[in-house]
Amino acid sequence: MELKEDNGEGVDSWKEVTLIYNAALKMIETRMDILNDEFQHVHQYNPIEHIKSRIKTPESIVKKLKRDGRESTISNMIKYINDIAGIRIICSFTSDIYRIADMIGEQVDIKVLAVKDYITFPKASGYKSYHMIVTVPVFLSDRTVDTKVEIQIRTVAMDFWASLEHKIHYKFEGDVPEYIKTELVECAKMVSDLDIRMLKLNEEILEMAREGLDE
Ligand code: GTP
Ligand code: MG
Repeated sequence: MELKEDNGEGVDSWKEVTLIYNAALKMIETRMDILNDEFQHVHQYNPIEHIKSRIKTPESIVKKLKRDGRESTISNMIKYINDIAGIRIICSFTSDIYRIADMIGEQVDIKVLAVKDYITFPKASGYKSYHMIVTVPVFLSDRTVDTKVEIQIRTVAMDFWASLEHKIHYKFEGDVPEYIKTELVECAKMVSDLDIRMLKLNEEILEMAREGLDE
């Protein structure tokens, strides 16, 4: 991302940056809406339940830069913070996650910079989600700015778990008692089992509907 004035570090630069990241979020959200509508039209089914998006607060940007031992400059934040613009796509079934990720990857102007598949390889905490860092072109009056967006894709059940785990983490300032951690890992296992059973159930219902049509 090139700022209008080189090395601009003032309030104006910050406003310009937020404007661009907000535009990037809108772009991705609209794309996802379109894909969801098209999917509904073709398959009579919505892979996306809902979408949440947010811009990282200046406080947590500064905190993250500090954590990584970097100076709080606008150029550092653009270069090193991948989740200034974040979008979370919540779907019903695990199979939808990969379907959505593939659809994102196939959009010609969206570049996938990195992928972390915490569905196939969950974190030790039990966290499951599919993460993509992408860039999307934002078309301004005088230039086009490729802008980074972090996309997290997860099921409703995974999202339920992640929200509570995040709250607990925050409450204990990262120092979560062992018994709570163990309980969270147990719950994550239940979430995975639930996702598998719900997917199977859905597949059985779809199969029955297909057989019904064949008769
Ligand atoms: P951060 O620098 O912390 O953003 O992590 P990272 O750059 O190593 O990327 P990663 O893909 O691991 O995590 C990115 C984001 O995923 C985090 O900012 C959280 O929103 C979410 N996340 C990752 N791990 C966990 C977890 O164990 N629990 C919850 N609730 N969220 C997580
Ligand atoms: Mg983050």
